[in-house]
Amino acid sequence: MVLASTENKIKKDLKICCIGAGYVGGPTMAMIAKQCPDIHVHVVDLNQERINRWNSHDLPVYEPGLDEVVREARGRNLRFSTQVDQAIAESDIVFIAVNTPTKSFGVGAGRAANLEFVEKCARQIAAVSKGHKIIVEKSTLPVRTAEAVKRILLNSTKEATFDVLSNPEFLAEGTAVADLLNPDRILIGGESDEAVETLASVYSRWVSRDRILTTNLWSSELSKLTANAFLAQRVSSINAISALCEATGADVDEVARAIGTDSRIGPKFLKSSVGFGGSCFQKDILNLVYLCEHFGLKEVAHYWEQVVVMNDYQKRRFSERIVRTMFNTVSDKKIAVLGFAFKKDTNDTRESAAIHVCRSLLDERAKLRIYDPRVPEEQIRAELLASFADPMGSVSEKHKQLVASNVTVLPSAYEAANQSHGIAILTEWDEFKTLDRTRLLESMLRPAFVFDGRSVLNREDWRNDGFEVHTIGKS
Ligand SMILES: NC(=O)c1ccc[n+]([C@@H]2O[C@H](COP(=O)([O-])OP(=O)(O)OC[C@H]3O[C@@H](n4cnc5c(N)ncnc54)[C@H](O)[C@@H]3O)[C@@H](O)[C@H]2O)c1
Repeated sequence: MVLASTENKIKKDLKICCIGAGYVGGPTMAMIAKQCPDIHVHVVDLNQERINRWNSHDLPVYEPGLDEVVREARGRNLRFSTQVDQAIAESDIVFIAVNTPTKSFGVGAGRAANLEFVEKCARQIAAVSKGHKIIVEKSTLPVRTAEAVKRILLNSTKEATFDVLSNPEFLAEGTAVADLLNPDRILIGGESDEAVETLASVYSRWVSRDRILTTNLWSSELSKLTANAFLAQRVSSINAISALCEATGADVDEVARAIGTDSRIGPKFLKSSVGFGGSCFQKDILNLVYLCEHFGLKEVAHYWEQVVVMNDYQKRRFSERIVRTMFNTVSDKKIAVLGFAFKKDTNDTRESAAIHVCRSLLDERAKLRIYDPRVPEEQIRAELLASFADPMGSVSEKHKQLVASNVTVLPSAYEAANQSHGIAILTEWDEFKTLDRTRLLESMLRPAFVFDGRSVLNREDWRNDGFEVHTIGKS
């Protein structure tokens, strides 16, 4: 259903609160506050350090253009604090944008979403609410979570009434501001027309009504999981073909161009790479797989799981290619790792392909010299240590020692490449396209290997200058 109303009725002095000041809560609320100066937006989080950074010049989330959006609204109608109870109590609309990681323990471990944080939010909302509130699921949740949230809310208090809406977020990290400003669609799932209209009227300040879609709650929840599954599936599909290209001499970029011009297929998301990362794709597909298994749909579960299996294969294939090419051993060899974020224009490293490739190279005892323009050293070290953790989260002394002695984080690509045996590009940061090849070559050992995991380099130019270049999907 598309909302037909063209009215822009909005309750006077509307107050919104958002629980969770992460990659979704922070940017989405900043955009609402920027576009609706008369709406009070209060973003709350338990993490004091994160809140301090939202209130500083050094925002915890790097997104092009986000500084300006926050600067415009913060102190006017946008607040960040840890006063969760107060923010909930004062608000008409409460967004839940907390993390929903894959469960690492118990029933559904490795597949199902851990809804602990969402449930805690629901209980906290019930505990401090009076009157009527609209609760909005912004976190990505399995189908029928709204039902559980509703039951917790209704059974935990007699002093308040609630409408629960699903309003999944479709922003992509790295382009969050542009996506929020000009979304393909806003999806709102809910049972109460009035609540749906209240939320729609917020977005309609800057999003045209024909892009605000409304559905029932379950369709909305499932649409988000399905969208991510389809997007990740395209990446795994082109990556599967990249392996075949390397084996046969075809060029994956040429194949992608040829198929992408077919209007039924389209050109987007056909870039082969070392594999997809980020906090969402893998988590949401595994969640979908778990749901299918729960409903006894074994074949459907198996079908979607292959998207993740293929992605793991691609990451493994890339590190194996590095080892094989460098004379079957990288032990004690210096490898410059350029890029650690899961994609360009973000400081997010969750599930980054770089973590998996670095871990494999560390297993082979390589000496890694890592540079990323936006990811700080502590974060890189924490991710690498976590990659060695056992199911209980402990890291052995041997692995701690390995990360301490074999990982160096450098402040530039040139310093990372200095005296190295090879370069591995793991994130497609624009600055890697214009590196000074002469400067790099002079400082590297020979043969100067380059493994381009993101197809950002002009292979011919690099080869002509004396590098031995290996690119995904090209033999
Ligand atoms: N990151 C993305 O690109 C993206 C895109 C669309 C949807 N999503 C979904 O949005 C949700 C949030 O993702 P994110 O990347 O922003 O996560 P995040 O980990 O960056 O942020 C979540 C925040 O919630 C806070 N939190 C948890 N429990 C809390 C509580 N009880 N009270 C107050 N704060 C609490 C955490 O401290 C954390 O800062 C997830 O469900 C995710 O799947 C993410």
